[in-house]
Amino acid sequence: MERVFATSRRDIWWAETFGSAVVFLGVILYSIVRALEGKFFEWGPYVSPLYSIPFDTAWISPAVFTMWVPAGYRITCYFCRRVYYRSIFADPPACAVREFKRNYKGESAFPYILLNVHRYFLYLVVIFVFIHWGHAISAFLRWGENGSIKFGMGLGSLLILGDTVLLTLYVLSCHSLRHILGGGSDFYSVEHMGKIKYSLWKFVSRLNEHHGFFFWTSLLSVAIADFYVRAVSSGVINDIRFF
Ligand code: FES
Repeated sequence: MERVFATSRRDIWWAETFGSAVVFLGVILYSIVRALEGKFFEWGPYVSPLYSIPFDTAWISPAVFTMWVPAGYRITCYFCRRVYYRSIFADPPACAVREFKRNYKGESAFPYILLNVHRYFLYLVVIFVFIHWGHAISAFLRWGENGSIKFGMGLGSLLILGDTVLLTLYVLSCHSLRHILGGGSDFYSVEHMGKIKYSLWKFVSRLNEHHGFFFWTSLLSVAIADFYVRAVSSGVINDIRFF
């Protein structure tokens, strides 16, 4: 019997698999712990991106009510599936490397068929993108004593804005979104608003080429922005304020 992970490859193919597993599991673990912590998720103008709708509940963390949307969106993401099929399930661990088990029937059988709800998570996560933009804008606003609002910027403003931009690019480069815009079209030229649809499809297709990059960077930026908000909110550090 051929051993698991048998391959003729001579490169260090396992480095990507192993590295992906460490980062992916690390961020998931961190996010779960933080979501359950239920405190230190806002400070002044900052709101942690892990707490999309921050409200105070004495008995349960508010993240529990919202986290399932971004979490479900990521878990069902086509690129994310590749990450955990390879790095967690070793099914297969890399191209041209013998897999761990051989009963994979594609996404047409239980349980993987459930992953096809991705499109519906996309509809929900679009709402979250708007909420995050609201947090990103308010991260640049400071309230004066007489109720006036002025512009201000700290490191947290930049981290929250960066995370929001990456989340937006991650969603705009989504395979399902690309399919919604172009999957059912054969001839844009004869369709109602075909020109606009074609331009949007071309734009999303260009971003789609970098979907993996947006997946990883937006995953990390959530954790980094949250870590900063937590550190400031819990008093471990002072906000690094530029003006
Ligand atoms: S395919 Fe990755 S977010 Fe939709």
